[in-house]
Amino acid sequence: MEKKNWLQLTAGAGQNLILGQAMDLLDGVLDYKELMMGYACAIKEINTKFEVLDTEFEVRYKRNPISSIETRLKSQTSILEKMSRMGIPPTRENIENNLNDIAGIRVICSYIDDIYLLADALTKQDDIKLIRRKDYISNPKPNGYRSLHLIVSVPIFFAESVKEVRAEVQIRTIAMDFWASLEHQIKYKQNVEHAEKVIARLKECADEIAHIDETMQEIRREMDNIKEAPTDMEALYEKLKKIDINLI
Ligand code: GTP
Ligand code: MG
Repeated sequence: MEKKNWLQLTAGAGQNLILGQAMDLLDGVLDYKELMMGYACAIKEINTKFEVLDTEFEVRYKRNPISSIETRLKSQTSILEKMSRMGIPPTRENIENNLNDIAGIRVICSYIDDIYLLADALTKQDDIKLIRRKDYISNPKPNGYRSLHLIVSVPIFFAESVKEVRAEVQIRTIAMDFWASLEHQIKYKQNVEHAEKVIARLKECADEIAHIDETMQEIRREMDNIKEAPTDMEALYEKLKKIDINLI
């Protein structure tokens, strides 16, 4: 028997109605795709900006302030959940005006000083607008969470238009990130026994981690300060090593 596709099956009286409904549905889906495209491009732009800064530091100072970068586009489920929590209908306009974290960029550094260095270098760029800055490092959350959060907007240049798109940037050390990922996993576990004790122990871990971060930073600064003047041969060798750095 010859198989028919859905278009052939709908041939007849109801065809126009079904086609019309399918078109409307697809228009809605495509509109959402367009919206997400802006956020995906914002992630690319900001990711590149951080990569550029890391490359600059590698070539100029032979060190990488960034240990790794993670990016994520908020899922449809999370978008709908958040809009429903806010009690706002999830229209395109409402999503754009109320959600700042659809595009997410997390930058992981080795040292605390690098967090502020990168945040300043990003926000002073002409095309970046700083919308909000939350410093959970100088003001940790009561549970011990530490990170620097920036909400920024970046222009995206399309073929025929320019669009300002918002993104959430989280900058933290490897140690802060380690703590935040474990705390996130534990938080979402249901029915944790002795929840209060767990919260208290997590807070202790956060404080110990903060202490380690500060000590590592101090050691780093001390090492930077006691650098002796290199011999001519060492200086030459340093220059050669910089030239050897892979740029791509
Ligand atoms: P959301 O509506 O949850 O996005 O938070 P907000 O608008 O109040 O912003 P905030 O800057 O406080 O937090 C934004 C994001 O930071 C969260 O979505 C998490 O990814 C992260 N975050 C904030 N607080 C915590 C925390 O206590 N633990 C962990 N693991 N992550 C956190
Ligand atoms: Mg969020």
